[in-house]
Amino acid sequence: MADWMIYGATGYTGVLVAEEAVRRGHKPLLAGRSEAKLKPLAERLGLEYAAVSLDETAALEKIVGSVKLVYHAAGPFTYTSQPMLQACLKMGAHYLDITGELPVLQNAFKYDAAAQEKGIVIIPGVGFDVIPSDCLLRYVADHLPDATHLEVVLDALSSGSDIGGGVSAGTAKSILEILAAVGNLMRQEGQLVPIPLGSGAKQFRFPHGERLAMPIPWGDLEVGYRTTQIPNITTYLTFPPTIIRLTRVMGWALRGLLKRRFIRNFAGKQIDHLIIGPSEHARQTGRSFIYARTSNAAGKQAAAWLETGEAYQFTAIAGVRVVEQVLDGAYRGALTPALAFGADFVLEIEGTRRMDSL
Ligand SMILES: NC(=O)c1ccc[n+]([C@@H]2O[C@H](COP(=O)([O-])OP(=O)(O)OC[C@H]3O[C@@H](n4cnc5c(N)ncnc54)[C@H](OP(=O)(O)O)[C@@H]3O)[C@@H](O)[C@H]2O)c1
Repeated sequence: MADWMIYGATGYTGVLVAEEAVRRGHKPLLAGRSEAKLKPLAERLGLEYAAVSLDETAALEKIVGSVKLVYHAAGPFTYTSQPMLQACLKMGAHYLDITGELPVLQNAFKYDAAAQEKGIVIIPGVGFDVIPSDCLLRYVADHLPDATHLEVVLDALSSGSDIGGGVSAGTAKSILEILAAVGNLMRQEGQLVPIPLGSGAKQFRFPHGERLAMPIPWGDLEVGYRTTQIPNITTYLTFPPTIIRLTRVMGWALRGLLKRRFIRNFAGKQIDHLIIGPSEHARQTGRSFIYARTSNAAGKQAAAWLETGEAYQFTAIAGVRVVEQVLDGAYRGALTPALAFGADFVLEIEGTRRMDSL
């Protein structure tokens, strides 16, 4: 009998997690809404499977009640997180997901007391978004305890894979959902405030050269705030200068369009046809870099870089390590990855190294 399950196991990322789980000697239950997709995957990997939709509450609870932990990989999580959270809370199974969607992260953290009472842990964001950045910013925050400002910069798309080939369909659709739901944001004096898309771009120094990055609503705006309590946070992603200029011109209009559900649905269908996710080669050879910098009122700074593997490869490897930690530990409540496992957890993921930039 499996002691944990992957829901959304047949998606681009779910398959990678299932393969990594088998590589590490696990036998998770593969779950999702499509039996036609689950059966061949389960046969290939020699695993059990269960087909259930998220709106079949009784059937979902029965399956969730048969395991100790759910690794939720079905997204956009705006539509999938809540029923699974409720089932985990009711049946007493730990809940992990790989969302980067801010409203979903905020919602998950609301269940801290309920999770403690039930004796389970809820950890959203156990993928590339946000394990490496969360661990890195806990590291720099620990070096400057009176920090007031925090900047996190991701250089993931431009190093190792190109845009479009660099993300899965699910990620592309989730980005549309984030932009439609919250637009672009930064954290100022503890509050999330809107900023125009494409504004605030600046250069950052990486070990492999200077990179231009613009603010984007990465999960650290919520998770990093919980981890560090630093009240001013900006999260950046590197892009080619032309994309940044285009985004600045299109900014508000783009958000207006994406707020219309039928436009998101149309875009989602195009994405499903056009985007297949990074190739095996891109996953094996891609590198990702993260830079985090804190500063205090006196202008003192603490900064560091992290270098790790391609984002989906990282997500699969780190996800299974998180499952192992949770099943072996006594974690309770709704936690961030760095609060649960510490700043150095990310260094356990193969191919990851941290460099001080002081
Ligand atoms: N945190 C990170 O770093 C990270 C990394 C990778 C992925 N992600 C996120 O993980 C999610 C999945 O990504 P992916 O690459 O696997 O995308 P994908 O290939 O498009 O797969 C999406 C999966 O979710 C399932 N799904 C979608 N809506 C569902 C619903 N309403 N009910 C049940 N199942 C549903 C799909 O099932 P069907 O096949 O039946 O449609 C499929 O199995 C996305 O939100 C993505 O942003 C995050």
